[in-house]
Amino acid sequence: MFDVIREDLAVLESALEEALVSESALVNGIGAHLVSSGGKRLRPALFLLAARSGASFDRARAMPIAAALELIHTASLVHDDVIDDADTRRGVETTNAKWGNQVAILSGDYIFARAFRLVAETGYPSQIYMRLADLVCTLSEGEILQDHAVYQVPAGEDAYYEHIRKKTADFLEICCEIGASVGGMSTEDTARFARYGHAIGMAFQITDDLLDMEQTSERIGKPAGRDLAQGYVTLPVIRALAVLGEPERDELTALITNPQMTEEEVARALVLVRGTDGVDYAQTRANAYLERAKAALPASLDERIRETCLTAADFIGRREF
Ligand code: IPE
Ligand code: IPE
Ligand code: MG
Ligand code: MG
Repeated sequence: MFDVIREDLAVLESALEEALVSESALVNGIGAHLVSSGGKRLRPALFLLAARSGASFDRARAMPIAAALELIHTASLVHDDVIDDADTRRGVETTNAKWGNQVAILSGDYIFARAFRLVAETGYPSQIYMRLADLVCTLSEGEILQDHAVYQVPAGEDAYYEHIRKKTADFLEICCEIGASVGGMSTEDTARFARYGHAIGMAFQITDDLLDMEQTSERIGKPAGRDLAQGYVTLPVIRALAVLGEPERDELTALITNPQMTEEEVARALVLVRGTDGVDYAQTRANAYLERAKAALPASLDERIRETCLTAADFIGRREF
């Protein structure tokens, strides 16, 4: 999918390995474990696509930011896996499963700091640091708000959209925005590219939540079917609550607000949700965001980059991992 930036992504892998080298063998091992387990590299890829679209792309100068974006993502996942008590990620053991929660929390902190150090070493205008700092703040807020709302019935879809905006859409938006800006794109085109990132980000988190409901852990490389049991009420469930009649709505409400729900109760909640258009509704919402994303792309884009951005949007709409 990312053929047009294939060489950049190869350089990125070395930059990531290098960024996490430590004199401590344990810390080195954790870094190597995380970098070698891969991942889609979506955030640096978006940054690089946007940066390459501008007139003044310079790979050596862009690479530290590309690496920092992936490191910030990695650190947030290391913390997220502690919060979600997840034992696999990208098909391998999580840091918390392999080394324990204490080591995982501190490793996340370490990786955040490494990310900011990389950018500082390269010397960028303070505006870039501020956007990266905003990104970590927003991401943390999204996780805090979501965590605070577990096992509660949402009043509607708005709180869900706020959580996924903060957790994911703002992140993808900032990747595109900073990329376009360091690549030298015009202000107007930078804003358009940022809108593309935001909209694919909303779709990306909706489809991530659908994967939790529809896919196996083997396929997605991380625990599936956990959101309901952990009290995270996602869009298909919110939709089901809105369209179900009595007594099913009350039954579903009682099930999802019970922190002690059993496996049988999770299965029953899923039967109730699947009896509605909840899953299709969420997919339709994701598709609408993707259409919005495609329409936002700047007209001036290089044809290969435009094709890649359109393909990325299509991938998000029908992804299975
Ligand atoms: C996982 O992100 C967290 C979400 C925002 C859904 P990705 O699906 O991009 O994770 P990796 O990097 O490919 O593992
Ligand atoms: C991912 O959140 C972490 C962030 C976006 C910060 P989730 O818990 O929803 O995603 P997965 O399913 O673990 O990747
Ligand atoms: Mg998680
Ligand atoms: Mg989570």
